[in-house]
Amino acid sequence: MQINSYILAMETSCDETAIALLSTTRADDGSFSGDILSHKIQSQIEVHRAYGGVYPNMAKREHIKNILPILRETLETLEELDDFYGPTITLTDEQKEYVKTTLAHEEGFAPMIIEFIESTPKPMLSHIAVTVGPGLNPALWVGVNTAKVLGTIWNIPVVPVNHMIGHMLSVNSTGTTFTLATPELPQLALLVSGGHTEFIYTTADRRTKLGATVDDALGESFDKVARMLGLPYPGGPEIEKLATIYMNNNGEPKAELFPRSMTHTPDFNVSYSGLKTSVKYHLEKHPNADPGLIAYEFSEAAFDTVLNKLAKIFSAHEVNSLVVAGGVAASTRLRQKIQKFIDEFYPGLSVTFPEKLLATDNAVMIGIASLLNEPIEPNTLTAQGNLSI
Ligand code: KG4
Ligand code: ZN
Repeated sequence: MQINSYILAMETSCDETAIALLSTTRADDGSFSGDILSHKIQSQIEVHRAYGGVYPNMAKREHIKNILPILRETLETLEELDDFYGPTITLTDEQKEYVKTTLAHEEGFAPMIIEFIESTPKPMLSHIAVTVGPGLNPALWVGVNTAKVLGTIWNIPVVPVNHMIGHMLSVNSTGTTFTLATPELPQLALLVSGGHTEFIYTTADRRTKLGATVDDALGESFDKVARMLGLPYPGGPEIEKLATIYMNNNGEPKAELFPRSMTHTPDFNVSYSGLKTSVKYHLEKHPNADPGLIAYEFSEAAFDTVLNKLAKIFSAHEVNSLVVAGGVAASTRLRQKIQKFIDEFYPGLSVTFPEKLLATDNAVMIGIASLLNEPIEPNTLTAQGNLSI
Protein backbone atom coordinates (compact mmCIF):
# COMPACT_ATOMS: atom_id res chain seq x y z
CA MET A 1 0.00 0.00 0.00
CA GLN A 2 1.45 3.35 -1.09
CA ILE A 3 0.40 6.01 1.36
CA ASN A 4 0.11 9.73 0.94
CA SER A 5 1.45 10.50 -2.42
CA TYR A 6 0.31 13.92 -3.53
CA ILE A 7 -1.16 14.97 -6.86
CA LEU A 8 -1.34 18.54 -8.10
CA ALA A 9 -4.09 18.90 -10.73
CA MET A 10 -4.70 21.77 -13.16
CA GLU A 11 -7.66 22.55 -15.40
CA THR A 12 -7.76 25.47 -17.88
CA SER A 13 -9.80 24.10 -20.79
CA CYS A 14 -12.43 26.83 -20.83
CA ASP A 15 -13.33 29.71 -18.52
CA GLU A 16 -12.36 28.36 -15.10
CA THR A 17 -8.80 28.30 -13.78
CA ALA A 18 -8.95 25.37 -11.37
CA ILE A 19 -6.25 23.82 -9.20
CA ALA A 20 -6.63 20.93 -6.78
CA LEU A 21 -4.32 19.02 -4.48
CA LEU A 22 -5.19 15.41 -3.66
CA SER A 23 -3.55 12.94 -1.34
CA THR A 24 -3.92 9.36 -2.46
CA THR A 25 -3.42 5.81 -1.29
CA ARG A 26 -3.42 2.79 -3.58
CA ALA A 27 -4.94 -0.35 -2.06
CA ASP A 28 -3.70 -3.86 -2.82
CA ASP A 29 -6.71 -4.48 -5.10
CA GLY A 30 -5.60 -1.58 -7.33
CA SER A 31 -8.29 0.84 -6.16
CA PHE A 32 -7.44 4.36 -5.00
CA SER A 33 -8.79 6.54 -2.25
CA GLY A 34 -7.76 9.83 -0.79
CA ASP A 35 -8.53 13.31 0.38
CA ILE A 36 -9.11 16.56 -1.44
CA LEU A 37 -6.63 18.74 0.41
CA SER A 38 -7.32 21.83 -1.64
CA HIS A 39 -9.82 22.65 -4.34
CA LYS A 40 -9.86 26.10 -5.91
CA ILE A 41 -11.74 27.49 -8.88
CA GLN A 42 -11.28 30.98 -10.22
CA SER A 43 -14.18 31.63 -12.56
CA GLN A 44 -13.92 34.09 -15.43
CA ILE A 45 -17.69 34.36 -15.78
CA GLU A 46 -17.77 38.07 -14.96
CA VAL A 47 -15.16 38.80 -17.64
CA HIS A 48 -16.98 36.83 -20.35
CA ARG A 49 -20.48 37.83 -19.32
CA ALA A 50 -20.23 41.21 -21.06
CA TYR A 51 -19.73 39.36 -24.35
CA GLY A 52 -22.35 36.65 -23.82
CA GLY A 53 -19.87 33.78 -24.25
CA VAL A 54 -16.27 32.70 -23.85
CA TYR A 55 -13.57 34.26 -26.05
CA PRO A 56 -10.54 31.94 -26.27
CA ASN A 57 -7.84 34.62 -26.21
CA MET A 58 -9.50 36.45 -23.35
CA ALA A 59 -9.75 33.14 -21.46
CA LYS A 60 -6.03 32.58 -22.12
CA ARG A 61 -5.11 36.02 -20.70
CA GLU A 62 -7.21 35.40 -17.60
CA HIS A 63 -5.62 31.97 -17.03
CA ILE A 64 -2.15 33.52 -17.31
CA LYS A 65 -3.14 36.15 -14.76
CA ASN A 66 -4.74 33.72 -12.32
CA ILE A 67 -2.94 30.39 -12.42
CA LEU A 68 0.22 31.16 -10.41
CA PRO A 69 -1.49 32.97 -7.50
CA ILE A 70 -3.91 30.03 -7.17
CA LEU A 71 -1.03 27.55 -7.38
CA ARG A 72 0.84 29.40 -4.67
CA GLU A 73 -2.20 29.44 -2.36
CA THR A 74 -2.76 25.74 -3.06
CA LEU A 75 0.78 24.72 -2.21
CA GLU A 76 0.77 26.88 0.91
CA THR A 77 -2.09 24.80 2.30
CA LEU A 78 0.45 22.04 2.91
CA GLU A 79 2.96 24.15 4.78
CA GLU A 80 2.42 22.20 7.98
CA LEU A 81 3.64 18.94 6.42
CA ASP A 82 7.37 18.55 7.15
CA ASP A 83 8.06 16.22 4.24
CA PHE A 84 6.08 18.12 1.60
CA TYR A 85 8.76 20.60 0.56
CA GLY A 86 12.15 20.15 -1.03
CA PRO A 87 14.65 22.88 -1.90
CA THR A 88 13.84 26.18 -3.61
CA ILE A 89 15.47 26.24 -7.02
CA THR A 90 17.42 29.13 -8.51
CA LEU A 91 17.23 28.82 -12.27
CA THR A 92 20.35 28.76 -14.41
CA ASP A 93 20.48 31.00 -17.50
CA GLU A 94 19.90 27.93 -19.61
CA GLN A 95 16.78 27.00 -17.64
CA LYS A 96 15.49 30.57 -17.94
CA GLU A 97 15.97 30.37 -21.71
CA TYR A 98 14.05 27.07 -21.75
CA VAL A 99 11.15 28.69 -19.85
CA LYS A 100 11.09 31.68 -22.20
CA THR A 101 11.13 29.46 -25.30
CA THR A 102 8.41 27.17 -23.95
CA LEU A 103 6.18 30.12 -23.06
CA ALA A 104 6.87 32.12 -26.23
CA HIS A 105 3.14 32.24 -27.06
CA GLU A 106 1.97 33.13 -23.54
CA GLU A 107 2.76 36.83 -23.45
CA GLY A 108 4.18 38.03 -20.13
CA PHE A 109 4.01 34.57 -18.54
CA ALA A 110 7.71 33.57 -18.52
CA PRO A 111 8.94 36.21 -16.02
CA MET A 112 5.96 35.40 -13.76
CA ILE A 113 6.68 31.67 -13.69
CA ILE A 114 10.43 32.22 -13.21
CA GLU A 115 9.66 34.43 -10.18
CA PHE A 116 7.19 31.79 -8.95
CA ILE A 117 9.69 28.92 -9.17
CA GLU A 118 12.46 30.90 -7.49
CA SER A 119 10.21 31.79 -4.55
CA THR A 120 8.43 28.43 -4.07
CA PRO A 121 10.07 25.39 -2.51
CA LYS A 122 9.74 22.28 -4.68
CA PRO A 123 6.63 20.36 -3.58
CA MET A 124 7.06 16.58 -3.16
CA LEU A 125 4.38 15.44 -5.60
CA SER A 126 3.93 12.00 -7.15
CA HIS A 127 2.83 13.78 -10.32
CA ILE A 128 1.24 16.85 -11.87
CA ALA A 129 -2.06 16.16 -13.66
CA VAL A 130 -3.20 18.51 -16.41
CA THR A 131 -6.12 18.74 -18.83
CA VAL A 132 -4.81 18.44 -22.40
CA GLY A 133 -8.23 18.53 -24.15
CA PRO A 134 -10.89 18.81 -25.34
CA GLY A 135 -11.39 22.54 -24.94
CA LEU A 136 -10.25 25.91 -26.24
CA ASN A 137 -6.67 25.55 -27.46
CA PRO A 138 -5.31 28.92 -26.26
CA ALA A 139 -6.82 28.27 -22.82
CA LEU A 140 -5.58 24.66 -22.65
CA TRP A 141 -2.02 25.72 -23.52
CA VAL A 142 -1.74 27.78 -20.34
CA GLY A 143 -2.29 24.74 -18.12
CA VAL A 144 -0.29 22.45 -20.39
CA ASN A 145 2.72 24.78 -20.50
CA THR A 146 2.58 25.45 -16.76
CA ALA A 147 2.66 21.69 -16.12
CA LYS A 148 5.43 21.27 -18.69
CA VAL A 149 7.70 23.92 -17.15
CA LEU A 150 7.07 22.92 -13.51
CA GLY A 151 7.43 19.22 -14.34
CA THR A 152 10.73 19.84 -16.12
CA ILE A 153 12.29 22.23 -13.60
CA TRP A 154 11.09 20.34 -10.53
CA ASN A 155 11.69 16.96 -12.16
CA ILE A 156 8.16 15.75 -11.37
CA PRO A 157 6.23 13.39 -13.71
CA VAL A 158 3.35 14.95 -15.66
CA VAL A 159 0.16 13.04 -16.50
CA PRO A 160 -2.11 14.23 -19.35
CA VAL A 161 -5.87 13.99 -18.74
CA ASN A 162 -8.89 14.03 -21.05
CA HIS A 163 -11.37 16.58 -19.67
CA MET A 164 -14.39 14.39 -20.51
CA ILE A 165 -12.93 11.38 -18.68
CA GLY A 166 -12.44 13.83 -15.81
CA HIS A 167 -16.17 14.67 -15.87
CA MET A 168 -16.99 10.95 -15.96
CA LEU A 169 -14.92 10.36 -12.81
CA SER A 170 -16.21 13.46 -10.99
CA VAL A 171 -18.89 11.23 -9.46
CA ASN A 172 -16.16 9.50 -7.43
CA SER A 173 -15.65 12.43 -5.06
CA THR A 174 -17.69 13.82 -2.18
CA GLY A 175 -15.82 17.11 -2.49
CA THR A 176 -13.57 16.30 0.48
CA THR A 177 -12.62 12.67 -0.26
CA PHE A 178 -12.59 10.34 -3.26
CA THR A 179 -12.51 6.64 -4.06
CA LEU A 180 -11.72 5.17 -7.43
CA ALA A 181 -12.52 1.53 -8.07
CA THR A 182 -13.74 -0.33 -11.15
CA PRO A 183 -17.44 0.57 -11.65
CA GLU A 184 -20.15 -1.98 -12.27
CA LEU A 185 -19.72 -2.83 -15.93
CA PRO A 186 -21.00 -2.34 -18.51
CA GLN A 187 -21.33 1.29 -17.54
CA LEU A 188 -23.09 4.01 -19.48
CA ALA A 189 -22.00 7.62 -19.01
CA LEU A 190 -24.15 10.50 -20.17
CA LEU A 191 -21.79 13.45 -20.44
CA VAL A 192 -23.52 16.80 -20.80
CA SER A 193 -21.51 20.01 -20.80
CA GLY A 194 -21.15 23.30 -22.64
CA GLY A 195 -19.15 21.67 -25.41
CA HIS A 196 -20.24 18.02 -25.38
CA THR A 197 -23.25 15.73 -25.25
CA GLU A 198 -22.12 12.12 -25.41
CA PHE A 199 -23.18 8.62 -24.46
CA ILE A 200 -20.06 6.65 -23.49
CA TYR A 201 -20.32 2.90 -23.00
CA THR A 202 -17.60 1.17 -20.98
CA THR A 203 -17.06 -2.59 -20.88
CA ALA A 204 -14.18 -4.52 -19.32
CA ASP A 205 -12.05 -4.14 -22.42
CA ARG A 206 -13.13 -0.95 -24.17
CA ARG A 207 -14.79 2.42 -24.12
CA THR A 208 -17.14 3.28 -27.01
CA LYS A 209 -18.99 6.44 -27.92
CA LEU A 210 -22.50 5.18 -28.68
CA GLY A 211 -23.86 8.56 -29.68
CA ALA A 212 -23.40 12.31 -29.43
CA THR A 213 -24.99 15.56 -30.48
CA VAL A 214 -24.96 16.17 -34.22
CA ASP A 215 -24.91 19.96 -33.69
CA ASP A 216 -25.11 22.03 -30.47
CA ALA A 217 -24.22 20.58 -27.08
CA LEU A 218 -26.93 20.48 -24.42
CA GLY A 219 -25.26 23.16 -22.25
CA GLU A 220 -24.64 25.29 -25.33
CA SER A 221 -28.36 25.20 -26.17
CA PHE A 222 -29.12 26.45 -22.64
CA ASP A 223 -26.59 29.25 -23.11
CA LYS A 224 -28.08 30.24 -26.49
CA VAL A 225 -31.70 30.17 -25.35
CA ALA A 226 -30.77 32.15 -22.23
CA ARG A 227 -29.30 34.80 -24.50
CA MET A 228 -32.57 34.96 -26.47
CA LEU A 229 -34.37 35.54 -23.18
CA GLY A 230 -31.94 38.29 -22.21
CA LEU A 231 -30.42 36.20 -19.40
CA PRO A 232 -26.68 36.34 -18.58
CA TYR A 233 -24.01 33.72 -19.41
CA PRO A 234 -23.86 30.86 -18.44
CA GLY A 235 -27.49 30.25 -19.26
CA GLY A 236 -28.07 26.86 -17.63
CA PRO A 237 -28.46 28.00 -14.02
CA GLU A 238 -30.48 31.09 -15.10
CA ILE A 239 -32.94 29.02 -17.13
CA GLU A 240 -33.19 26.52 -14.31
CA LYS A 241 -34.19 29.28 -11.86
CA LEU A 242 -36.99 30.57 -14.12
CA ALA A 243 -38.18 27.08 -15.05
CA THR A 244 -38.32 25.99 -11.41
CA ILE A 245 -40.41 28.99 -10.37
CA TYR A 246 -42.75 28.38 -13.31
CA MET A 247 -43.05 24.68 -12.47
CA ASN A 248 -43.70 25.36 -8.79
CA ASN A 249 -46.43 27.87 -9.66
CA ASN A 250 -48.07 25.75 -12.31
CA GLY A 251 -47.82 22.22 -10.96
CA GLU A 252 -45.45 20.63 -13.46
CA PRO A 253 -47.65 21.00 -16.55
CA LYS A 254 -47.20 18.66 -19.49
CA ALA A 255 -44.72 20.46 -21.71
CA GLU A 256 -45.45 20.38 -25.41
CA LEU A 257 -44.60 23.73 -26.90
CA PHE A 258 -41.30 22.63 -28.44
CA PRO A 259 -40.19 19.55 -30.41
CA ARG A 260 -38.13 16.60 -29.13
CA SER A 261 -35.61 16.17 -31.94
CA MET A 262 -34.55 12.85 -33.51
CA THR A 263 -37.03 10.87 -31.42
CA HIS A 264 -37.75 8.48 -34.25
CA THR A 265 -34.23 7.91 -35.54
CA PRO A 266 -32.81 4.52 -34.55
CA ASP A 267 -29.34 5.88 -33.69
CA PHE A 268 -28.24 7.22 -30.31
CA ASN A 269 -27.49 10.75 -31.47
CA VAL A 270 -29.25 13.91 -30.32
CA SER A 271 -29.73 17.34 -31.88
CA TYR A 272 -30.38 20.73 -30.29
CA SER A 273 -30.23 23.20 -33.10
CA GLY A 274 -33.86 22.58 -34.20
CA LEU A 275 -35.09 23.10 -30.64
CA LYS A 276 -33.13 26.34 -30.39
CA THR A 277 -34.64 27.56 -33.68
CA SER A 278 -38.17 26.67 -32.50
CA VAL A 279 -37.64 28.79 -29.40
CA LYS A 280 -36.36 31.62 -31.59
CA TYR A 281 -39.44 31.51 -33.89
CA HIS A 282 -41.78 31.27 -30.93
CA LEU A 283 -40.24 34.36 -29.35
CA GLU A 284 -40.48 36.26 -32.66
CA LYS A 285 -44.18 35.39 -32.89
CA HIS A 286 -44.87 35.98 -29.19
CA PRO A 287 -42.54 38.75 -28.07
CA ASN A 288 -44.40 39.06 -24.77
CA ALA A 289 -44.27 35.34 -23.95
CA ASP A 290 -43.71 34.53 -20.26
CA PRO A 291 -39.93 33.80 -19.95
CA GLY A 292 -40.73 31.27 -17.21
CA LEU A 293 -42.96 29.33 -19.61
CA ILE A 294 -40.28 29.37 -22.32
CA ALA A 295 -37.56 28.32 -19.85
CA TYR A 296 -39.72 25.46 -18.57
CA GLU A 297 -40.91 24.23 -21.97
CA PHE A 298 -37.39 24.47 -23.44
CA SER A 299 -35.76 22.59 -20.52
CA GLU A 300 -38.34 19.81 -20.62
CA ALA A 301 -37.87 19.36 -24.37
CA ALA A 302 -34.08 19.45 -24.03
CA PHE A 303 -34.03 16.87 -21.22
CA ASP A 304 -36.68 14.64 -22.83
CA THR A 305 -34.41 14.44 -25.88
CA VAL A 306 -31.60 12.80 -23.87
CA LEU A 307 -34.06 10.64 -21.91
CA ASN A 308 -35.49 9.32 -25.14
CA LYS A 309 -32.03 8.21 -26.31
CA LEU A 310 -31.17 6.82 -22.88
CA ALA A 311 -34.25 4.60 -23.16
CA LYS A 312 -33.15 3.46 -26.63
CA ILE A 313 -29.64 2.62 -25.38
CA PHE A 314 -31.02 0.69 -22.41
CA SER A 315 -33.16 -1.37 -24.80
CA ALA A 316 -30.21 -2.17 -27.04
CA HIS A 317 -27.34 -2.64 -24.57
CA GLU A 318 -26.81 -4.24 -21.22
CA VAL A 319 -26.17 -1.46 -18.68
CA ASN A 320 -25.27 -2.18 -15.06
CA SER A 321 -24.49 1.34 -13.91
CA LEU A 322 -25.24 4.83 -15.14
CA VAL A 323 -23.19 7.98 -14.59
CA VAL A 324 -24.50 11.43 -15.48
CA ALA A 325 -21.83 14.13 -15.46
CA GLY A 326 -20.73 17.48 -16.92
CA GLY A 327 -21.92 21.02 -16.22
CA VAL A 328 -25.58 20.32 -17.12
CA ALA A 329 -25.62 17.51 -14.53
CA ALA A 330 -25.80 20.37 -12.01
CA SER A 331 -29.47 20.68 -13.02
CA THR A 332 -31.81 19.41 -10.32
CA ARG A 333 -34.53 18.88 -12.90
CA LEU A 334 -32.32 16.71 -15.13
CA ARG A 335 -31.37 14.61 -12.09
CA GLN A 336 -35.03 14.24 -11.11
CA LYS A 337 -36.11 13.20 -14.57
CA ILE A 338 -33.33 10.63 -14.94
CA GLN A 339 -33.93 9.23 -11.44
CA LYS A 340 -37.65 8.92 -12.21
CA PHE A 341 -36.91 7.11 -15.46
CA ILE A 342 -34.59 4.66 -13.71
CA ASP A 343 -36.97 4.08 -10.78
CA GLU A 344 -39.80 3.38 -13.20
CA PHE A 345 -38.08 1.21 -15.79
CA TYR A 346 -34.82 -0.04 -14.25
CA PRO A 347 -35.39 -0.03 -10.50
CA GLY A 348 -32.28 -0.88 -8.51
CA LEU A 349 -29.87 0.19 -11.24
CA SER A 350 -27.03 2.26 -9.81
CA VAL A 351 -27.14 5.85 -11.06
CA THR A 352 -24.63 8.43 -9.88
CA PHE A 353 -24.37 12.18 -10.30
CA PRO A 354 -21.48 14.40 -9.22
CA GLU A 355 -21.67 16.64 -6.19
CA LYS A 356 -23.10 19.88 -7.56
CA LEU A 357 -19.82 21.76 -7.07
CA LEU A 358 -17.98 19.09 -9.06
CA ALA A 359 -20.50 18.96 -11.94
CA THR A 360 -19.08 22.07 -13.61
CA ASP A 361 -15.39 22.36 -14.48
CA ASN A 362 -12.95 21.70 -11.64
CA ALA A 363 -9.51 20.20 -11.09
CA VAL A 364 -10.51 17.54 -8.54
CA MET A 365 -11.89 15.41 -11.37
CA ILE A 366 -8.65 15.92 -13.33
CA GLY A 367 -6.59 14.70 -10.37
CA ILE A 368 -8.80 11.61 -10.01
CA ALA A 369 -8.72 10.80 -13.74
CA SER A 370 -4.92 11.08 -13.77
CA LEU A 371 -4.75 7.93 -11.65
CA LEU A 372 -5.81 5.94 -14.72
CA ASN A 373 -3.08 7.34 -17.01
CA GLU A 374 0.68 7.01 -17.31
CA PRO A 375 3.06 9.94 -16.98
CA ILE A 376 4.69 11.25 -20.15
CA GLU A 377 7.87 13.22 -20.79
CA PRO A 378 6.76 16.79 -19.88
CA ASN A 379 8.11 18.37 -23.05
CA THR A 380 6.00 16.10 -25.26
CA LEU A 381 2.78 17.51 -23.78
CA THR A 382 0.50 19.31 -26.25
CA ALA A 383 -2.94 20.88 -26.01
CA GLN A 384 -5.48 18.92 -28.06
CA GLY A 385 -8.59 21.05 -28.43
CA ASN A 386 -10.43 18.34 -30.36
CA LEU A 387 -9.38 15.37 -28.24
CA SER A 388 -12.17 12.79 -28.09
CA ILE A 389 -12.81 9.85 -25.84
O1 KG4 B 1 -18.76 21.13 -17.83
P1 KG4 B 1 -18.89 22.60 -17.87
O2 KG4 B 1 -18.62 23.39 -16.62
O3 KG4 B 1 -17.94 23.22 -18.96
C1 KG4 B 1 -17.68 22.55 -20.16
O4 KG4 B 1 -16.85 21.62 -20.16
O5 KG4 B 1 -18.37 22.93 -21.15
O6 KG4 B 1 -20.35 22.91 -18.40
C2 KG4 B 1 -20.84 24.23 -18.55
C3 KG4 B 1 -22.24 24.17 -19.14
C4 KG4 B 1 -22.77 25.53 -19.54
O7 KG4 B 1 -23.32 25.43 -20.84
C5 KG4 B 1 -23.85 25.80 -18.51
O8 KG4 B 1 -24.91 26.63 -19.00
C6 KG4 B 1 -24.33 24.41 -18.17
O9 KG4 B 1 -23.15 23.64 -18.15
N1 KG4 B 1 -24.99 24.35 -16.88
C7 KG4 B 1 -26.29 24.02 -16.71
C8 KG4 B 1 -26.56 24.15 -15.32
N2 KG4 B 1 -25.39 24.51 -14.69
C9 KG4 B 1 -24.44 24.62 -15.67
N3 KG4 B 1 -27.23 23.67 -17.60
C10 KG4 B 1 -28.48 23.43 -17.12
N4 KG4 B 1 -28.82 23.53 -15.82
C11 KG4 B 1 -27.90 23.88 -14.89
N5 KG4 B 1 -28.23 23.99 -13.60
ZN1 ZN C 1 -16.35 20.55 -18.66
